Amino acid sequence: MTKKALITGITGQDGSYLSEYLLELGYDVYGLIRRNSITEHQQSRLEHISSRVHNRYGDLLDVSTIDRALKEIQPDEIYNLAAQSHVRISYEIPQFTVQTNALGALNVFESVRIHSPHSRLYQASSSEMFGDSVDSDGKQRETTRMTPVSPYGCAKLYAFNQLRNYRNAYHIFGSNGILFNHESPRRASNFVTAKVIRNAIKISKGISKDKLQMGNLDSSRDWGHSYDYVRAMHQILQHDCADDFVVSTGETRTVRDLCRITFQYFNLNYEDHVEINQKYFRPQELPYLCGDCSKIKATLGWKPTYTFEALIEEMILSYLELYK
Ligand code: GDD
Repeated sequence: MTKKALITGITGQDGSYLSEYLLELGYDVYGLIRRNSITEHQQSRLEHISSRVHNRYGDLLDVSTIDRALKEIQPDEIYNLAAQSHVRISYEIPQFTVQTNALGALNVFESVRIHSPHSRLYQASSSEMFGDSVDSDGKQRETTRMTPVSPYGCAKLYAFNQLRNYRNAYHIFGSNGILFNHESPRRASNFVTAKVIRNAIKISKGISKDKLQMGNLDSSRDWGHSYDYVRAMHQILQHDCADDFVVSTGETRTVRDLCRITFQYFNLNYEDHVEINQKYFRPQELPYLCGDCSKIKATLGWKPTYTFEALIEEMILSYLELYK
């Protein structure tokens, strides 16, 4: 029997890679998309597969749309990827962030419990939940204390814990992927990798004469590729029991490294082109992330295929096409 998967947040970076992957595996793919006013761009990441995915409008805050989708589709697998996903912006819109990322996730869990309890449920949890907590070996793992430092991280931690509660209380097959930062050519332009790369290209081609305005260059992140990470999501739901897994590369770089490597690609020195602007700092910074993914490696055999350098090069080459 053909398996059915429902993806909330299907129009995002991960939603589009996951859709492609599940289609390759022979799934029927259904998506919930949130209406916004810019119709032209709303499904741009899905254009090449639009005739093969079944999308409908919905919103995590509109319980009836989730209920209806679950009742009608009865998916084998649900991937809850929908979220307000920008950490700095979560300080500007904390209530919306919590409503969507925490209570919206609860709406999905509750709808699964009532209308589709056989479905396997994946929750997009985040390394932002660790906040300023790190083990003595410089890594974060499934057992590391979670002390989030942003409205986004707090909301994600609520959903993480609530899913564990649904797993234990109602025997829902609900698993958390604790994903560290993951990027791709489909990354939105206000996340740091896409911002640095796009602007370095514009500066190198003389399209932009302005200095690139940046926030904290000293924070460290563990950056992987979305293409690898959506495979982890799928593998997590194929496991024989529901569980929580860190998905990461195990290597960390600073934002400064990212700037240096990117500008170097165009034979430029980032120090000549980058300016610090307080606007891009967060009220509280999360200084360091580096994930230990040995549990998912040992249990499910997943491992990343992209190095940081390969990821950045792929993003550069892809954006270069846009500015040709
Ligand atoms: N966006 C942005 N813009 N970040 C900047 C800038 C800037 O101008 N300057 C410095 N940074 C720093 C941020 O302070 C942060 O330390 C780092 O670059 C990465 O920022 P983002 O790319 O915005 O990602 P994030 O780490 O805040 O959050 C991402 O990763 C999480 C997993 O850890 C998002 O994808 C989240 O949705 C995800 O959960």
